[in-house]
Amino acid sequence: MQIKSAEFTISNTEVSKCPLDGKPEFAFIGRSNVGKSSLINMLTSKKGLAKTSGTPGKTQLINHFLINEHWYLVDLPGYGYAKVSRTQRSSFERFIADYLTKRETLYNIFVLLDARLEPQKIDLEFMNWCGQKGLPFSMVFTKIDKLSSSALQKNLAKYKKEMLKVWAELPPVFTTSAQSGFGKEPLLNYIDQILA
Ligand code: GTP
Ligand code: MG
Repeated sequence: MQIKSAEFTISNTEVSKCPLDGKPEFAFIGRSNVGKSSLINMLTSKKGLAKTSGTPGKTQLINHFLINEHWYLVDLPGYGYAKVSRTQRSSFERFIADYLTKRETLYNIFVLLDARLEPQKIDLEFMNWCGQKGLPFSMVFTKIDKLSSSALQKNLAKYKKEMLKVWAELPPVFTTSAQSGFGKEPLLNYIDQILA
């Protein structure tokens, strides 16, 4: 699939204020700093579209980006960011959970996982929560430019093993690098297939 246009539409903290045009959408979620905003920029080939930062906690709102005037990519705040206050964190968690469970036009959740790390409890718990809620998700490993392919394969295998302790089968798995552009086509083709 070709991305011909990508435009910021709206930011907010309330699912009721998200666009009401019924267009399909795909959300990016994962721990703070995992590379959600960078991946959106890589997929759309628009560097400054979603705001990125070396410091965790950059994205704090639900951000809709309209793609090809037909569907949305949605950038979400990260979970598990220790430096925000407890109250701020629970309000984050509430509006993100609200958005994920109530948004009828949400077609798929991309759960981003840092390819350098072994399976993390918080990510496994989040994916299990998606499963319990019946929310379709895929696993997207990020920053693969930062490790060797053998280290990547090792972490992928560990993740798969952990997932198969809970699930009968694995969700789709993607490997990406926002820096090199690796993984762009398979991800966009997957979205295209869902939209078809
Ligand atoms: P929050 O909005 O704070 O939750 O973070 P985020 O998940 O949106 O992460 P963001 O895209 O802002 O990226 C965090 C940092 O990781 C930035 O310094 C990026 O440049 C870097 N980064 C993201 N993706 C990659 C990647 O694929 N490779 C490398 N080398 N760095 C990356
Ligand atoms: Mg972000």
